[in-house]
Amino acid sequence: MDVQEVLQWTDRLVFSKTGKHLDSLQKAVLEGTWEGKKYPEIARTCNRSHERIKQVARELWQLISAELGEDIRQSNFRATMEQVEFSNISNFGSDYVQIVGDINFCSGLYNNPGSTQNRSHPNTENPSQLRHDLSEAPEVSRLYSRTDELATLKQWILAEHHRIIAITGLSGIGKTALARHLVEEIKPNFDRILWRSHRKYPNLNSLKTDLIQFLSPTPPNQNSILDYLRSHRCLIILDDFHETLTPRQFVGKYRPEYETYGQLVTEIGRSPHHSCLLLLSWEQPTEIAILETEKPHCKTLPLKGLDGSSTIELLTTRNLKDRERWIELIELYSGNPLWLNIISATISDLFNGSVSQFLSYSSLYLGDIELLLNDHYLRLSDPEKLVMIGLANQNGITEISPNLENLSESDYLKAVQSLRKRCLLEIGIGKSTSILRLNPAIKEYFKNQNHH
Ligand SMILES: Nc1ncnc2c1ncn2[C@@H]1O[C@H](COP(=O)(O)OP(=O)(O)OP(=O)(O)O)[C@@H](O)[C@H]1O
Ligand SMILES: [Mg+2]
Repeated sequence: MDVQEVLQWTDRLVFSKTGKHLDSLQKAVLEGTWEGKKYPEIARTCNRSHERIKQVARELWQLISAELGEDIRQSNFRATMEQVEFSNISNFGSDYVQIVGDINFCSGLYNNPGSTQNRSHPNTENPSQLRHDLSEAPEVSRLYSRTDELATLKQWILAEHHRIIAITGLSGIGKTALARHLVEEIKPNFDRILWRSHRKYPNLNSLKTDLIQFLSPTPPNQNSILDYLRSHRCLIILDDFHETLTPRQFVGKYRPEYETYGQLVTEIGRSPHHSCLLLLSWEQPTEIAILETEKPHCKTLPLKGLDGSSTIELLTTRNLKDRERWIELIELYSGNPLWLNIISATISDLFNGSVSQFLSYSSLYLGDIELLLNDHYLRLSDPEKLVMIGLANQNGITEISPNLENLSESDYLKAVQSLRKRCLLEIGIGKSTSILRLNPAIKEYFKNQNHH
């Protein structure tokens, strides 16, 4: 790293900590030190007192020491920066330095795409690097459609700086696939990116410890998660958020191991910072629903099925016949990409790809989709099961009507609201009152359930 790069790097560091660029005195200290001058000589050149120069230098060394995790003094400044150049941040400002597995160590505090150069010692940790850990994210696979959703999410995250975003939807609808593409497109905007699934953590403490470990790998790491979200621009993706919620109760109650998670979520939503927490879930987190109503910094994107043209593209890869009937198939399985993949395989296996033959059966065939829906069923409370089975066995339009299934009005309405948060039920507007809608596959599944 030459002196200009050092000045540029330090300027960015100082700006990130203080909101101010390097002033002429700080530059003189850095340049003078680089050239081997002592403080009295720098003071004479700048026409300032020796004490003043020492004070400016002391503040600079403190900032740089904290950033590099090394004790920086005038005597070791140049040597350390040259060594740092060797190990980590020589190409400060470039995008990627090296990819180790799926962990991207990126140089620089801010992104400024430029030349790419390999790092010599990938495991030498350095807090000033961009650190992107996507080792637990799935591979980026082909994504049909979702242009609108990607545009909305980018607008919320990059332009409007929302602090928490929940993407909700049934299993297989494409939350993980969408988020993976989103991260690929926006990752240069974040200093720290971490992708994890809640399946990994037995409790909130283990999640917090892992987050802090990632955000501040070198001790002392005593700050709270919120402090780190303030000091760096972080994007944290937590998949399978519903794993933290208690099954067989209305949506929103955390499991005992995650009891205080709601407070953390609320804190992240309410406090000012430029980081973003992206939650992927079958069920909408209650705190987000509340925060959304009071603050403009949290959003939920309920993910719907793919649109007609992109699903046709998806089915084209499946070698199905009777193209004129594909739209029926797409509607029956609500454009859910995983369901359509499963059912396409069944049509190939059983009917040699003939969609007409498959559709000629009077009841809707679910096959392995049933297993997926079973996981959702097992999470329902008793009132929700009653409402779903009742709705599945009704024909025609169903209005919202609290005298259903011997439930109290309150339980009925709670159940309907909870089912909507679980994406199992849609509420539409009817002529005089709200109407409830189940998609055909869900209806078929619940028709065959008995609740005792
Ligand atoms: N837009 C899309 N285009 C093509 N394939 C897609 C699309 N969305 C999802 N898929 C495919 O459908 C399958 C399910 O998607 P994904 O795993 O993202 O669903 P999910 O909503 O995260 O489900 P779960 O809640 O069970 O984790 C994957 O194989 C994925 O590659
Ligand atoms: Mg997923």
